[in-house]
Amino acid sequence: MNFEFTEEQLMIQQAARDYAERELIKDVIERDTTCEFPTQHVKAISELGFMGMTVDTKYEGGGMDTVSYVLAVEEFSKVDASIGVIVSVNNSLVCYELEEFGTEEQKDKYLKPLANGTKIGAFLLSEPDAGSDATSQRTTAEDKGDYYLVNGTKNWITSANCASTYILIAQTHPDKKHRGINALIVDKDSPGISLGPHEDKMGMRSSDTHSVMFNDVKVPKENRIGDDGFGFKMAMKTLEGGRVGIAAQAVGIAQGAYERALQYAQERKAFGTEIINHQAIGFKLAEMHTRIEAAQFFTVKAAWLKDQGMPYGTASAMAKYWAGETAMYVTTEAVQIHGGYGYVKEYHVERMMRDAKLTQIYEGTSEIQQIIIARAIMND
Ligand code: CAA
Repeated sequence: MNFEFTEEQLMIQQAARDYAERELIKDVIERDTTCEFPTQHVKAISELGFMGMTVDTKYEGGGMDTVSYVLAVEEFSKVDASIGVIVSVNNSLVCYELEEFGTEEQKDKYLKPLANGTKIGAFLLSEPDAGSDATSQRTTAEDKGDYYLVNGTKNWITSANCASTYILIAQTHPDKKHRGINALIVDKDSPGISLGPHEDKMGMRSSDTHSVMFNDVKVPKENRIGDDGFGFKMAMKTLEGGRVGIAAQAVGIAQGAYERALQYAQERKAFGTEIINHQAIGFKLAEMHTRIEAAQFFTVKAAWLKDQGMPYGTASAMAKYWAGETAMYVTTEAVQIHGGYGYVKEYHVERMMRDAKLTQIYEGTSEIQQIIIARAIMND
């Protein structure tokens, strides 16, 4: 068993770290306050190849492996978790679904601009009444011969406004339940699409989250991904990889908060010594460090399994579950170690604590991951 990263993986990690520490840090607090989408940063990281980093080079992606992707998402998220989710959704939900299941024509037209970073994509699965219970899709894609007529509402859509390309999950044959669901590629500027207001979220505030309404939107038949009725299965498969990305994001948030807490504990004095010398603080840091390392092992293992072409659905659920729980635990402890300073924006950890909460919720709550893990145990 080899626990070392390759030279290439370490170079990619370093490139992401350099950008995060040099550029993202400058305005991360301001963007959290204003909720401004980080357009310039997304442009810069696209030029560095991160927006389509796992896509094959023949589709203008970076041709990198999933382990490298995990290391990059961690580095961005250490400093700015909103960038982490923008990179993650584009790579592991949108680009992955197109590359894995799309036709050559679809890849040529839609995947290439997403992979080379000239366009951004969004993945539209969640609905007002279909979050965890994803089979209960109410958005309809009525088969009208040479096109689908789409009506319905999608909720909590990451990058909804800045994206040009949507992967939409919608019901075509309600009598067939989840086996009647399709995945469609939709141009965001199609007539009949409108957006709700920018969601005023607790955390990840500069990621661009909206609801999206479809009112008699015509989608050409050739924009269906895969066979008729396979949309749900493909979405579930895609989410397996998406969860590796969110696990990496959670590890990054936790590591960022831990590093800040460690530095603070080494500098801050109380009762005549640096507070790290008090066991109450030392034990906290030991617990934080250990949990983060376990979360990173789970995440890299899931990524490695994916790279080997081996099943990774349970591993990705375990990674996402543990990393999300770890991010929440570690950031809460980081605020505690900072005392009153932890409760104000300047010290970053209060933002990280708010950001961490979402990693326990999106791309399947912690409880959904537990369901997936429990089912795997029962089927063993
Ligand atoms: N791969 C392939 N197929 C799968 C699968 C997988 N990992 N998991 C399930 N399926 C298939 C099953 O085989 C079944 O198909 P058949 O009946 O044809 O065999 C079908 O899907 C239904 O499966 P289940 O009976 O297991 O379905 P369920 O209703 O019990 O739900 C679930 C399963 C795991 C709970 C699923 O609903 C789920 O993952 N829910 C959470 C949804 C989620 O993660 N949403 C995130 C939204 S995206 C997002 O957040 C993006 C963003 O912008 C950040």
